Amino acid sequence: MKINAKRLLDNLNNLKKFTDTPGKGVTRFSYGSEDIKAREYIASKVSAAGCSVHEDALHNLRIGLKDNSTHKKTVVAGSHIDTVKNGGWLDGIYGVCGAMEVIETLAKSGASFHNNYEMVIFAEEEGSNFDSTMTGSKFITGFYDESTLDSLRNDIGESLRDVLLDFNKKVDGSSSLDVSNIRWDFNRIKSMFELHIEQGPVLDQQKLSLGIVESIFGMRVIEVILTGVGNHAGATPMTERFDALSVAAQCITTAEDMVRSDPDKRTVVTVGKLEVKPNCSNVIPEAVKFYLEVRDKDRNKIDFYIDEIKSLIFDIAESRDVKCEMKEHSKSTPLRLNKRLMDKMVSKANDQNLAYKVMDSGAVHDACMIANFADTGMIFVPSINGRSHVPEENTDKADLITGVQFLLDIIIDELKEG
Ligand code: GLV
Ligand code: MN
Ligand code: MN
Repeated sequence: MKINAKRLLDNLNNLKKFTDTPGKGVTRFSYGSEDIKAREYIASKVSAAGCSVHEDALHNLRIGLKDNSTHKKTVVAGSHIDTVKNGGWLDGIYGVCGAMEVIETLAKSGASFHNNYEMVIFAEEEGSNFDSTMTGSKFITGFYDESTLDSLRNDIGESLRDVLLDFNKKVDGSSSLDVSNIRWDFNRIKSMFELHIEQGPVLDQQKLSLGIVESIFGMRVIEVILTGVGNHAGATPMTERFDALSVAAQCITTAEDMVRSDPDKRTVVTVGKLEVKPNCSNVIPEAVKFYLEVRDKDRNKIDFYIDEIKSLIFDIAESRDVKCEMKEHSKSTPLRLNKRLMDKMVSKANDQNLAYKVMDSGAVHDACMIANFADTGMIFVPSINGRSHVPEENTDKADLITGVQFLLDIIIDELKEG
């Protein structure tokens, strides 16, 4: 069976127009107005193909073939449609359009299989609203529950519950929210696939067209609040300052030096978000809040570096008489993906003479959550110059098409298998 490459590229190109920042990359946060438009676009395509659409309380979408039966197990494929601020046009949505191309191709073929096929769209994967990644998939796996609706807060203090209730009002006028039945029954899932751009330089540098993912890095994120003393930037001598931003800078560069010196050269540390109070050029910063994350495929390394960095931040803050509060913010565990599916994908890539590599994922994906409960596989295609989470994110058309055809081929194998 062959995918329709034109339809795939048209869908990708149409969906990239749903952005809050035209001309400056794609900005489409879950529960925003562009998210609603993207959902409507996808729902109209799959409804035209006769598929059923089920939306849960977090607004994760499950879309099934018309002939799916409750007696059969289900093969699932999908990813997310939300983006980071000024992000790229492929992160997440490529896997969604790939899964949608599979559903449209299967629907048109009328073929019937031993198992069902469904595509899935996970909500709030990027954590752009609440600084916590994989929110939708954490709910369906029970990693998050009712209490998370109140604990996750956005930058203006609204809880996830507030945001969902507001979204519900806009979408269908409803004022209810019930997450009690949100968990998936994984006994009914045969396997799950996520197709994604690599987001790093490996495939592009090695001129390969496909990556078969073996392990996915885990991460731990801490929230740090440093409180010094705000004062006049001109009249306060250098000897009498308690500058929270200067202390934050020292903490960040020291953490970077520490991780950089690791002999494996694999662990990564990032501070990507920092809030400065009052954030005025002529006022000494009184307070700084930042999020620091460490990622690796070895859980011990993550724990080692987070613990070391926490203690160095306390020491630096204390030595400069600045108050320091820290708390754990979110985390995910490193994991290896399913061996049966990896072997199957390797053998198919060999059969098809594809230039591929078995590799790690430094980025996290909804697949990480599902992999704890069901056989899960991930397929990568190259990212040109290894750029992602930026407007420059791109992949050659030929690679986009190869990835989706490979996804369809693997899914058909899984659909046939008892
Ligand atoms: C998601 O893209 C992540 O890896 O943070
Ligand atoms: Mn993604
Ligand atoms: Mn991403």
